[in-house]
Amino acid sequence: MPLFQQSCAPCHGEQGDGHGLVALDRPARSFQTGAFSFGNTPAALFRTIEHGIGGTPMPAFAESLSAEQIQSLVQVVLDFGPEVKAASAEDAVFVVEDRPLAIRGTMDPVADGCERIPRGLLVGGLDGLSFQYNTEDLRLLAVRQGGFALRKDWENRGGDPLQPLGHILFLVDGGHPQSMWVLSADNQTSLPLFAQLKATEALAEEIVVEYDLLRQGRPIAKVRERGRLHTRGGWIGIQRHFEVTLLESMAGKIQLRDILGGGHQRQFLAHGSARWVDIEPYGACLIAVKETPSSNPKASFDVVQELYFGQNPSPQNLKAWEEAE
Ligand code: HEC
Repeated sequence: MPLFQQSCAPCHGEQGDGHGLVALDRPARSFQTGAFSFGNTPAALFRTIEHGIGGTPMPAFAESLSAEQIQSLVQVVLDFGPEVKAASAEDAVFVVEDRPLAIRGTMDPVADGCERIPRGLLVGGLDGLSFQYNTEDLRLLAVRQGGFALRKDWENRGGDPLQPLGHILFLVDGGHPQSMWVLSADNQTSLPLFAQLKATEALAEEIVVEYDLLRQGRPIAKVRERGRLHTRGGWIGIQRHFEVTLLESMAGKIQLRDILGGGHQRQFLAHGSARWVDIEPYGACLIAVKETPSSNPKASFDVVQELYFGQNPSPQNLKAWEEAE
């Protein structure tokens, strides 16, 4: 407890109610409700305390506290919250606790003007993020943060949709996503590739979504995709990791389409490693896409896509981002 009083109470208050002595233009989180934007699992809280929250006064403690100290603070933070009831078999609320979850079912439209999703897939990691897909032609619809899912269709067999509980952090292409992958025949034309879900696999902290990319009904590549919360140089965002295995020699031709949709490109960074764009309604977003050799000997190459938002780019924070690689 003394550690909490010393390091955290000035902002979060002695009782963890969010009312500390330090006046902040952005209030510190109250721990008493048990609600956290970046995940309420011990692993997620550990990460929040370790890395801080970019663009807010919440500092990173990785340098000043040991892993044991951070671990003990995670428990202190959880102890301030309401008692957590163990979920019973009848409970229809799914919560990501100590392992990531994948759940499939009918889902309501992600936004006004979008269609109902007959076959949706929601995968949730220990970091408190969940990725919502349409599996008809496997496409990412939205990235959510917070709760996981509520299933109401136990009695009404399949009638009621599965309801994702996290709030939408990022809606891809305004809820009308195009194919994620394209085949570029030459520099001018690119053909959208159809994606077919194969499996989901649970790793320790996140779920891998495995799918085939098809051309004229024939698989030409396999992709293993996973996503998570990512921080870099004071920025906070999403990192998507794709492991691509080519089934035909198509190197350089299969490309990940941008996640931006209607975004308006504004400026390139000096090294061309990232650019920032305005995306309605998120404002300035920093986007980086990198192709690397794969650490998996069976895969052909990896693509890493990062998307950061929440602060306006300035020479200082762009430099911090670049240097934090
Ligand atoms: C300088 C002030 C300050 C200090 C010191 C501080 N915090 Fe925070 N903390 C904040 C603010 C502000 C937020 C809310 C950030 C936001 O707007 O999301 C926050 C948010 C959090 C969150 C919630 C994250 C979420 O998922 O919503 C946790 C957990 C947290 N702090 C833990 C700690 C712990 C543990 C310590 C002590 C080791 C600590 N903080 C010290 C200011 C502070």
